[in-house]
Amino acid sequence: MDNTNEIQAKRKRVLSLIQPTSVPTLGNYLGAMRNWASLSAEYDCVYGVANLHALTVRRPATDLRKQTQELFAILLALDLNQGNNVVFVQSHVPSHCQLSWILSCYTQFGEMSRMTQFKEKAAQHSDNVNVGLFTYPTLMAADILIYQADLVPVGDDQKQHLEICRDIATRFNGVYPNTFTVPEPYIGKLGGRIMSLQDPTRKMSKSDPNPKGAISMLDDENTILKKCRGAVTDSETVVRYGEGKEGINNLMTIYACCTGESFEQIETAFAGQGYGAFKTAVAEVVIAALRPFREKYKAYMADPAGLQSIAAEGARAAARIADRTTEKAMKRVGLWRI
Ligand code: TRP
Repeated sequence: MDNTNEIQAKRKRVLSLIQPTSVPTLGNYLGAMRNWASLSAEYDCVYGVANLHALTVRRPATDLRKQTQELFAILLALDLNQGNNVVFVQSHVPSHCQLSWILSCYTQFGEMSRMTQFKEKAAQHSDNVNVGLFTYPTLMAADILIYQADLVPVGDDQKQHLEICRDIATRFNGVYPNTFTVPEPYIGKLGGRIMSLQDPTRKMSKSDPNPKGAISMLDDENTILKKCRGAVTDSETVVRYGEGKEGINNLMTIYACCTGESFEQIETAFAGQGYGAFKTAVAEVVIAALRPFREKYKAYMADPAGLQSIAAEGARAAARIADRTTEKAMKRVGLWRI
């Protein structure tokens, strides 16, 4: 046996899928996504577009297809397709659905019924409480376990889903030992926590009811300028970080994340200037921060054939890992393989 393999620690695998329901925001970018490319120095990363999960909420087919392609191009424009990384679209790897079915037979109705996100979404979309919405966490568990992922970066809303994924994996391994890696949550470097421009007590969210509250990663320069200029502030008109100044605190956080400057440096630089000048300056640094990303994004979108072939390559690379795990699980549960 080659003992360099023994000496070298195995690189861990980080996995994350994103639903193509709407374009990620500046908050997603500054808080997490812009750091993802550098993770590949330490980890093998798998990034996917969860278009099957998006089917749980009804939308026009042409929108879903377009949003899937756009999100795929966003992941590429973030330079995630490098080294050992895999970037792919979930529906291009059919074994996710096969494994999801097997896992659903190792998931209890009772534990699934406790998922708080299902209860919320069922209330939100009371006209379409489909079974997919209910079993969604088993598909998510399949997404994770099929790549034997070690680490999954999750926001608060997905913690319970990762927990049930771990429970399913542990239970399955209890019957069929060493089938799946039991994943851990990945706690990344804390990026800035960016709040809504219209209600700075709430996180900037792509589902903000007020579209002026969130800057999308694909907003054009003029829209970014307008949204920054329209940001809610206070009546003090002094650019300083402080209590009761949530709007200004948020704009200062955005400015600091985009430029690397400290709050003190920002306070000094904008001393004696009104909020108008500061808001314009915030827009300018946001535009500059997003510019390289946007240029790459546009180049990917301008070449649909190229995008398609990168997606096909990604699907092949993903399937090489996913099909192996699925084959293993199928054999273990006693499905006749021919
Ligand atoms: N459910 C996740 C969300 O809505 C998306 C998702 C699907 C996911 N499969 C995953 C996240 C696997 C992490 C790992 O945000």
